[in-house]
Amino acid sequence: MEALNNLVIKLVLFVNVVSSSTVSQHKLSEVKLFETPALYDVETTLFLNDMSRTDKEISYKIKSQLAVQPLWRNTNSEFLLKLQLLEPKLYLRGKHPNANFMAHPSVWDSHSDSLFYVHWKNGLIQNSYLDLKELPDFINYKKSIISLFQLQIIDGEYNETDVSGPCTVLYESISRDVFRKIKRGCSMDAGVWPGAARRVSRYTLGGRGEGGEGQGEGGLREAHAEEQLELGAHGAAIKARSWHRLQLAAAPAPAPAPAPAPLSGAASLEEALAALPAELSPAPLTLVETETVPENDLVSIVNSSLYYPL
Ligand SMILES: *[C@@H]1O[C@H](CO)[C@@H](O)[C@H](O)[C@H]1NC(C)=O
Ligand SMILES: *[C@@H]1O[C@H](CO)[C@@H](O)[C@H](O)[C@H]1NC(C)=O
Repeated sequence: MEALNNLVIKLVLFVNVVSSSTVSQHKLSEVKLFETPALYDVETTLFLNDMSRTDKEISYKIKSQLAVQPLWRNTNSEFLLKLQLLEPKLYLRGKHPNANFMAHPSVWDSHSDSLFYVHWKNGLIQNSYLDLKELPDFINYKKSIISLFQLQIIDGEYNETDVSGPCTVLYESISRDVFRKIKRGCSMDAGVWPGAARRVSRYTLGGRGEGGEGQGEGGLREAHAEEQLELGAHGAAIKARSWHRLQLAAAPAPAPAPAPAPLSGAASLEEALAALPAELSPAPLTLVETETVPENDLVSIVNSSLYYPL
């Protein structure tokens, strides 16, 4: 993967999100994002190919669970959400193209239960609250997951900023419960990646998990956000394909936080924010700097978790 040597890869996550579907098909009042706690299985997969060496590929997965709970809300358009990332685990696969992904020791093992928060309003992430002393990889992963929850309710084109930076975003309904989000012209792509960039997410509403009465009821059941990028100049290009898959888990959602009373008014949000853990700080969704990709040894890149695109 010679091309890796020369690139500082800041593959951003494909993010995208959960948009809800169009108002014409889906009344805003029927969309019940976040009203009940929900537990999701999250799987993030990355494939990196050197385009001049088709036999060279690296790939990995990170599997985790994500608990989402409303901590404070103002009607159904504004929430302070508590997100809990559980048991993230790195999976690697042998050189064989058909080899299975196997759990692998990594720094993620030391990060088995962590909290972060999101202020969500009318589909947009107003702010996220993260522990900025954590490894950049953990922070960026969380930002990419948060970006999944940025979604607009009404079909159309918007300007949004998330982990890919400012982008033009198109929302399209596919059916009553399914819609997609297409991000284009993301500012992070300018100049850095001459190659193609493609970012599409597909969202399915209508949660009701197998395990857990009313889990995620009427909310987000599944999200699949995929990103394809070609990085580098001709002759030394890398093709990166990555996706997040978020699905309601079979296990019951955790018990709700004590009485997330439907409070309203800015003072109450401030109160809720004031009660957040002291180590968390407001942070934009744009990526924090990670180290330059080291040379050649792809296994060590992955293993050291230095290269974390999402
Ligand atoms: C990957 O990292 C783990 C934990 O740090 C270590 O035990 C393992 O030997 C490493 N594997 C490789 C191939 O470097
Ligand atoms: C997005 O931003 C551009 C540039 O500022 C502006 O021209 C355009 O009208 C905006 N689009 C929307 C949908 O707000």
